[in-house]
Amino acid sequence: MINETELEKLSWPDAPRLKTRSVPGPLERQALERSARRESLARGGGEFPMVFDEGFGVTVKDPDGNLYIDLSAGVGVNSVGRCHPAVVRAIHTQSQRLMHASDITNSKRIELAATIAGIMPEGLRDNCVTYFTQSGSDAVEAAVKFAKRATGRQQILAFHGAYHGIWNASNALTTGNQYRAGYGPFMGGVIHAPYPYAYRFPFDTSSRSAEQIAGEYVDYLLNTRYTGADDVAAVIVEPVQGEGGYVAPGPEFLRLLRKACDHSGALLIADEVQAGAGRTGKMWSIEHSGVKPDLLTFGKGMGGDLPMAGVTMRADLAEHIPPGSQPGTFAANALSAAVCLTNIELLTDPKLALIERAHELGLEIVERLRAAACPLIGEVRGRGLMIGIELVEDRASKTPLRPERVGHVVMQTLSRGIIMVPCGRNGNVLRLMPSLTIPRRYLFAALDVMLAVLAEA
Ligand SMILES: Cc1ncc(COP(=O)(O)O)c(C=O)c1O
Repeated sequence: MINETELEKLSWPDAPRLKTRSVPGPLERQALERSARRESLARGGGEFPMVFDEGFGVTVKDPDGNLYIDLSAGVGVNSVGRCHPAVVRAIHTQSQRLMHASDITNSKRIELAATIAGIMPEGLRDNCVTYFTQSGSDAVEAAVKFAKRATGRQQILAFHGAYHGIWNASNALTTGNQYRAGYGPFMGGVIHAPYPYAYRFPFDTSSRSAEQIAGEYVDYLLNTRYTGADDVAAVIVEPVQGEGGYVAPGPEFLRLLRKACDHSGALLIADEVQAGAGRTGKMWSIEHSGVKPDLLTFGKGMGGDLPMAGVTMRADLAEHIPPGSQPGTFAANALSAAVCLTNIELLTDPKLALIERAHELGLEIVERLRAAACPLIGEVRGRGLMIGIELVEDRASKTPLRPERVGHVVMQTLSRGIIMVPCGRNGNVLRLMPSLTIPRRYLFAALDVMLAVLAEA
């Protein structure tokens, strides 16, 4: 496993280190004002008062030169850290050979498709075809279309709390009013079912687990007459729910979904855009359950510093997709493909063992946070380096911490040099999703800051 000295060389030293008395500092403030004048605030993080100016590993600088430790890794994107030297080298080399090739394929992209086939979970491994896209939303759009085309069916089943993107099909699957209000109507034929979010499950779990109830409910929907779910092409699921609050159900849920799909003839799509690429301690989060997906969407951590996403589907399903029917001008250009190959190489290098490290660090963090006995922490959950800390007004009532108090915690943490972004259905879940290359020293220093802020709050 890569040692700490080597990891520390992959980030700037002495973080966090603030130069200005408060954040945003004067230059950052000016930059934010310029952004607000000419950049749409519909972007993610539109309310997060920060401007990234430089980044290296898990450290970033704002325009005033304040140095932060980033626990969000660009929302789970920078799995190997920012500007990793091997990635920078790959960009340098590839940029002198070929970058854009349109959707006509290119050598790097062919190499990438073959590499992806080799790292897929069982069921897809070496028996699949990949369609490349530029974003996770695009990948989900494509997965939905391919599932419909391959099955000849029209409906899609997704889950409460799901986030699958913000275009037409993907937005129809995504729940969350802030992403939907005023933008509809979206693609029709979508059915939503409860996700086994045990901490806030709407049904009694005294005799059966949330996983069992949620899994059996999908079976009931798909395989019982008169439920309206009579034409379901696919069930799409985040094996670990991301934007919905970093919820990591036990394996039984996915196993029940698989069974229900097999019985009804629906396909199972694992959306691994956020939880994939090693983050949860396995290359793909569905691998914790042993369940074989029919299609898998990926993005974020596979691309890292350059955009890369796609959907990988079983080879026999791909036979139903007419050639040339779904072109994409910018899909998997050679430069992005070269970076993605480098990311995969780093993530799967047994000498570095970054994925194993994510698993071990995750266990340690959860143990530490659970032991912290902070009254604002209702629950700590997650898998690997995908950890959610659900904040509550009090533990007995589980009332979600009010948005202004969550905002206060995030801003206090930021003003001490730690970047953390919340998520969850009530916006009250702090998520820890640092790069897999985060040095222990930085990780535990950042956690101490966060716990101190929570204690003061
Ligand atoms: C599970 C999941 N699917 C899809 C997406 C959409 O990805 P993108 O923002 O790249 O469109 C996200 C983004 O957060 C995600 O978490």
